[in-house]
Amino acid sequence: MAPVPIFPIKVGHIDDVQELRKTKPTTIPERYVRDQTERPTLATTLLSSSSSPTDDIHIPIINLSKLMKANNNTTTADEFHTEIVNLTTACQEWGFFQVVNHGIDLSLLESIEMVAKDFFMLPLEEKQKYPMAPGTVQGYGQAFVFSENQKLDWCNMFALGVEPHYIRNPKLWPSKPADFSETLESYSREVRKLCQNLLRYIAVSLGLKEDVFEEMFGVAVQAVRMNYYPPCSRPDLVMGLSPHSDGSALTILQQGKGSSVGLQILKDNTWVPVQPIPNALVINIGDTIEVLSNGKYKSVEHRAVTHKEKDRLSIVTFYAPSYEIEIGPMTELVDDVNNPCKYRRYNHGEYSKYYVTNKLQGKKTLDFAKIQVTNSS
Ligand code: OGA
Ligand code: NI
Repeated sequence: MAPVPIFPIKVGHIDDVQELRKTKPTTIPERYVRDQTERPTLATTLLSSSSSPTDDIHIPIINLSKLMKANNNTTTADEFHTEIVNLTTACQEWGFFQVVNHGIDLSLLESIEMVAKDFFMLPLEEKQKYPMAPGTVQGYGQAFVFSENQKLDWCNMFALGVEPHYIRNPKLWPSKPADFSETLESYSREVRKLCQNLLRYIAVSLGLKEDVFEEMFGVAVQAVRMNYYPPCSRPDLVMGLSPHSDGSALTILQQGKGSSVGLQILKDNTWVPVQPIPNALVINIGDTIEVLSNGKYKSVEHRAVTHKEKDRLSIVTFYAPSYEIEIGPMTELVDDVNNPCKYRRYNHGEYSKYYVTNKLQGKKTLDFAKIQVTNSS
C-alpha cells in the first residue's frame, strides 16, 4: 500500500487547496492551471460544442434488493433475471452505475460523511499530523504527484488502507474527530459486504460461477480515499481530480449530501456528469475486472471537476484482490475466434505498485497488462 520510492521524489511546494481557497485568490496559481487541452469542457475535442445536452443522460441504476433474492422472497426469478440483464448492460456499456437499496444503513452513510467533513474542517496543523509522504498514497495530502512541473488537482485527499490489517498505517488514523476510526471500521465492514455481493452478481452476469471472484481474490484489499474539493473561482481552468481509471476490481463512491455535481465519466468521447441520487452509491468497474472479463466490461475513465461556489465531498472505497494473486482473463471468456486474449497474466501486487507510482493519466496504466497487437505487415 505504501511503496517506498526507489529514488527521492522532488515534488516542490504543494499548497493545501483549502488554505489556498481561504485567501480567495483572484488568479489561480500556475501549478493548478491546466493546459488548454486539459481543461474541463464536456466535449473531448475543442472543436465540438461544449453545450452538449449531457444533463439528460443518466448512468444506469441497479436495484440491489432485486438481486438479493436469497434474503428476499418478494423477488421473482423474472425480476432477478431482468436486473442481471440491467447489470450486464451497465457494466458493458457504461462501466458505471448507481446502486439503490444497497442495504447499508443510511445512518452509517451519514456518519461517515460527517466524520470525513469534520476531518477536513480541522485546522491544517491538525491534519498535517497525518501527512502523505511524496510518492505514497496514504495520509493527508495530494496523491499521484511525482514531479515539480506536474499540474496539481484542486482537491485535498485523505487516504487510508483498511483491510487486511497489515496494510494499515496506524499512525495515520486520526484521533480527531473522536469517532473517526470507529465509524470508518463499521462503514468499511458494510461496504465490504456490498462489494462481495456485487462481485457475485457481476460473475453471474458474465456467465460465471457466482463465487468465482470471492474464491480467486483471497483476502481482498480495501482502501478508502476521502476527496474534498473546495469551490474554485475558475472551475474552467482547473481539474478537481485528473482523468483516470481505477486500479481496483470495484470502486464504491459516496457523494456528500448537498455537494455540487462533480464526477464525470467518459462515454462515447463525451464527459457525462453523474447526477447524484440521494442515498445511492456510485459503483464502477476497475481495471482488474476489465482484465478478468477480457475487456467485456470496461474500466471507464472518469474525472472530477470543481464548482464556483459549492464544495464537494466524496468517500471512495477501492476493493481489489490480495496482492499475491495472479490476474489474467478468465479462460471461460476467451476463445481464439471471437474473443482473443487481450491481456497478459500478471501479479496483482505488481500492478498495484505500478498504478500508485505513476501519475493519473487516463487509462494509460492499463497498458501494463495489454497484449500489444503487433502489426506483422
Ligand atoms: C477516485 C475518484 C471521483 C470523485 O477517487 O478514484 O474517481 O468524484 N473520485 O471524487
Ligand atoms: Ni476513480
